[in-house]
Amino acid sequence: MTLSPTYDITKSYDENYADGPFFSGDLPPAPKGEPGYRFLDFPVHAPIGVPAGPLLNANYIDLYARLGFDLPVYKTVRSIQRACHPAPNCLYLKDAGSLTPERFSERLVATAKEPAHPADISITNSFGMPSKQPDTWMEDMEKARNGMGPGQVFIASCVGTPGVAGGDLPADYARTAAMAREAGAQVVEINLSCPNVTSGEGSIYTDSEFTQRIARETARVLGPVPLMVKVGYYTDPNVLAEVLRAVAPFVAGVAGINTLSFEVVDESGQQALPGEGRLRSGICGAAIRECGLTQARTMVEMKAVEKYDFAIVGVGGIMTPADIDAYLAVGVDAVMSATGAMWDPYLAKNWRTTHGVG
Ligand SMILES: Cc1cc2nc3c(=O)[nH]c(=O)nc-3n(C[C@H](O)[C@H](O)[C@H](O)COP(=O)(O)O)c2cc1C
Repeated sequence: MTLSPTYDITKSYDENYADGPFFSGDLPPAPKGEPGYRFLDFPVHAPIGVPAGPLLNANYIDLYARLGFDLPVYKTVRSIQRACHPAPNCLYLKDAGSLTPERFSERLVATAKEPAHPADISITNSFGMPSKQPDTWMEDMEKARNGMGPGQVFIASCVGTPGVAGGDLPADYARTAAMAREAGAQVVEINLSCPNVTSGEGSIYTDSEFTQRIARETARVLGPVPLMVKVGYYTDPNVLAEVLRAVAPFVAGVAGINTLSFEVVDESGQQALPGEGRLRSGICGAAIRECGLTQARTMVEMKAVEKYDFAIVGVGGIMTPADIDAYLAVGVDAVMSATGAMWDPYLAKNWRTTHGVG
């Protein structure tokens, strides 16, 4: 069987942006009846989305909204234009297994060979958070927002860029978020945790003070538009607790996890992805489910103890409807699947069918 994700990993990011998504299946009928769930203050049919990444532009948002992912996130944008890292940007991993913390210093092996079962897919991805010019993405976001149906929420992901806005990174986060709000985002998520950047902003999520400054400034410019923060995996739950305490007054939601950072080599032991600074890249898909689910459980527990009122979005290794149930069972408010949704566009539909949701 040849697997055919909606983002073609044999093509460049620009080709996928221009010609994707690649999908020729039937679309499920639009849901009937009133939405039965809530996310933040929005009614939704299903608490399922696609996190920042696989949905490059309005064409992707439109497809996944029609496929029943009611919480689609527009791939992270910046206040300036930024090119993508060279292709390839996604590679399959060979027998990655479950990447629990005691394995974090291992080197992983990339392969061209597809896994036998789509539910076992683990990949490395490395894009470097490319971005069109703001006027281009703002116009496209507006189109994406206008294509959403009732019971769906359009979420935009933003990141600050070091060295712009006079070197004031929190100000650039806030500025970018304000542009996303203007373009129609109903919720803005800020990415504090991309491992595929070489300038340090990928690990902001472990710095509670800096995270708080960014969240405070961004929430201030967003006003009534809810702010979510996207965090990575915390090896130390005390740091997670500190960060949640720091952001709680400013955020409506916390989403995580982002990809796990690993060194990845090819089958001959050479750096798998081309270019400087790319020996390490982000790992996602089935291999990170255990970390994602563990952290989701920990966040739900911390929220209960501290009586936080933000929503928690579980992300990481959600490949099947059973994985969605496993996350919902720990008490998250919504789930999002990136790798799973790329290779199985019917993931939300199949969950909805088994749960009697439109
Ligand atoms: C193709 C691809 C691109 C991604 N780009 C972004 C991004 O721009 N911003 C971001 O916050 N996360 C990005 N991610 C990370 C995902 O949002 C998610 O946190 C991660 O993939 C774990 O989920 P998964 O196991 O369901 O893939 C990307 C993931 C993939 C697969």
